[in-house]
Amino acid sequence: MQLIDGKAVSAQIKKEIAQEVGEMRKAGMRAPKLVAVLVGHDGGSETYVASKHKTCLEVGFDSDVIRFESDITEAELLACVEQLNNDDSVDGFIVQLPLPKHINEQKIIEAIDYRKDVDGFHPINVGRMSIGLPCFVSATPAGIVELLKRYHIETKGKHCVVLGRSNIVGKPVAGLMSQKGYPGDCTVTVCHSRSENLKEMCLQADIIIAALGVPGFLKGDMVKEGVVVVDVGTTRVPSTETKSGFRLKGDVEFDEVAKKASYITPVPGGVGPMTIISLMKNTLLAGKKEIYK
Ligand code: GUN
Repeated sequence: MQLIDGKAVSAQIKKEIAQEVGEMRKAGMRAPKLVAVLVGHDGGSETYVASKHKTCLEVGFDSDVIRFESDITEAELLACVEQLNNDDSVDGFIVQLPLPKHINEQKIIEAIDYRKDVDGFHPINVGRMSIGLPCFVSATPAGIVELLKRYHIETKGKHCVVLGRSNIVGKPVAGLMSQKGYPGDCTVTVCHSRSENLKEMCLQADIIIAALGVPGFLKGDMVKEGVVVVDVGTTRVPSTETKSGFRLKGDVEFDEVAKKASYITPVPGGVGPMTIISLMKNTLLAGKKEIYK
């Protein structure tokens, strides 16, 4: 069994991005700029945004965080989006989700100029991805395929089972794994909470991407020998072994499944670190106007 080390891969990509930013500056270009919009004080969102901002500065990007209290109106947030759409100094921006209940998230996502949508959530980017056109691919699916690529894992003709059908992970990663080329060319089955023969499907899988958000869901008796397992789950579960009293648990019962797997991602340290780095890669592409002029 080989552990897929997302921490090491993301550190390597971070160096590659920093080097490119250095070259941009040397060529007289300005560094790419990412702005994150954060509404309210959700603990998870605060942590993610702080981490995105910090990583931006580490790779040499320019970065700002715009904060609003959770009583901001939808119209005010739309006005902020419009301002960022029109600000030529901003290459890409994200509105951190979830948003307060009184704001229509989809309306906000669709108001973002797709050419600055480095989250890859706008329907134009989602649609372009699904038909294989250049676009911003959302960070987690992009991070997953990058890991498979960096470990030279064979995907052509393999049966890939995706557990979960979320818009952020399950659906897009199923699209990427079935598209022409590498990594791709898989036969993909998407299973979800209503699937009746989920265990049989998993037993036939060469590659399993688990993104259900159910800690420890995939057990050792649900996988075949030699399977490649990518665990996207990050549920906080109580723990007596950490200072915080919590630890992250993936969707995979790691000890059981690792015994049979050829490759497996740990949680934490697998897909997680790849997600922020994929956002950085999209920001670099936005800065260089490599996808949209
Ligand atoms: N909330 C959880 N993950 C994400 C993400 O990737 N982007 C944004 N904007 N919000 C999130």
